[in-house]
Amino acid sequence: MELRVKRAPRIDLEITVPGDKSISHRAVIIAALSNGVCTLRGFLPSEDCMHTVNALRTLGVRIEQPEPDTLIVHGKKRVLTPPKKEIDCGNSGTTMRLLAGLLAGQTFESRLVGDARLSRRPMDRVIAPLGKMGANIVAEGPEETPPLRIHGGSLRGIRYGLPVASAQVKSALLLAGLFAKGKTTVEEPVPTRNHTELMLNYFLVRTVKDENDTVTVFGDQVPESRDFTIPGDISSAAFWLVAAAVQPRGHLLVRDVGLNNTRTALLGVLLRMGAQVREAIEDVDQLEPRGIVEVTGFPLKGTVIQGREVPQLIDELPILAVAGALADGKTIIRHAGELRVKETDRIAAIAHNLRTMGAQVSELTDGLEIYGPAPLHGARVASFGDHRIAMAFGIAGLFAEGETIVQDADCIRESYPRFETVLEEFTNPKRMQISTPVIGSLSPAPVEEA
Ligand code: S3P
Repeated sequence: MELRVKRAPRIDLEITVPGDKSISHRAVIIAALSNGVCTLRGFLPSEDCMHTVNALRTLGVRIEQPEPDTLIVHGKKRVLTPPKKEIDCGNSGTTMRLLAGLLAGQTFESRLVGDARLSRRPMDRVIAPLGKMGANIVAEGPEETPPLRIHGGSLRGIRYGLPVASAQVKSALLLAGLFAKGKTTVEEPVPTRNHTELMLNYFLVRTVKDENDTVTVFGDQVPESRDFTIPGDISSAAFWLVAAAVQPRGHLLVRDVGLNNTRTALLGVLLRMGAQVREAIEDVDQLEPRGIVEVTGFPLKGTVIQGREVPQLIDELPILAVAGALADGKTIIRHAGELRVKETDRIAAIAHNLRTMGAQVSELTDGLEIYGPAPLHGARVASFGDHRIAMAFGIAGLFAEGETIVQDADCIRESYPRFETVLEEFTNPKRMQISTPVIGSLSPAPVEEA
């Protein structure tokens, strides 16, 4: 599939976005370990999350899907069945790393495989600490890359300082910790998304968090079965929020979206760049905050994104780079070396595509310098097989002269089925809806200390 995009007319829209990808993975994994039947609503039926669902089915968990976004998970009270075949994680790094943690706690042997892209991504970050807990994990690819052969069981709790800020690694260790003797403590260099901790707590599993970005889980606990409704994905909303923010007088209201503050750093950056942003948390009953975000566009100015902010908007950096190209002055992104080991090398991909569309960009080892405002022109750009690169450049096309074509855009299905349909609404003024203002406002986030 190709995305073909033309310049957007004035944006004035009200939308919802599909369920949060990170929360969907965690909800189904923890429900599968629980002691009863759990109904999960608002589940993201994207390719990545369905790889997690199918992996759990291979491990003997019964999961019904009466609607695309509803799962009925029959919890196995922590007792998984040895898989009869290898477990396919597709291109989902979250599936592979979280399952590595889960399978490290099982006495049977399992093998996790991925597609060609996932097979190039580093797994030493989970292999080393899970090995310290007592699991034997062998990476069959060169330099500790997939497939992973896991022989687990008899784990002991450890205290582990993460060398890189990664919610996937933290989550793998917490899931393994559920099956370990004693307590497992993870220290983070800077805080990352805390969905695993919240989901465990929601299922009445005890964890302890201290002020120094440290979280502890105690072994031998059985999650208590509960129903859960997954909020919309702020990382999917980010594409549309940026589109509204960069268009003077553009206006967008996103309803029923996740507003967990380990995920909303994007909003502070848009404010700092000069957009008007309001958020209203409407519900925290299921521990994950959810509510409304409203953005009004202004001529934006460049900014610096670095330090502790980076892990809390790591998935939003491709679209923020597009915002930087359209903003006045220099935008600097640094301390974001992790972008080089995502679904593609996102630093190289962003620099390549922005240059193809006429922007001036310098690549840093751990980030980018982008000189705006660029008069973007339509061009043929590559997705690099990366869903967030494809979507970010679909949005760039809304602000370019002429037509932009994003090639190989099928990868968008990994996180955002029907993205193209919403994109169409942004380019077709006949279908615009008028949105209503909401209360609650934010102040701009200061630039983080380096
Ligand atoms: C995710 C964590 C992030 C993020 C990814 C999803 C998660 O990866 O980029 O899209 O669900 O835990 P890292 O933890 O490797 O930074």
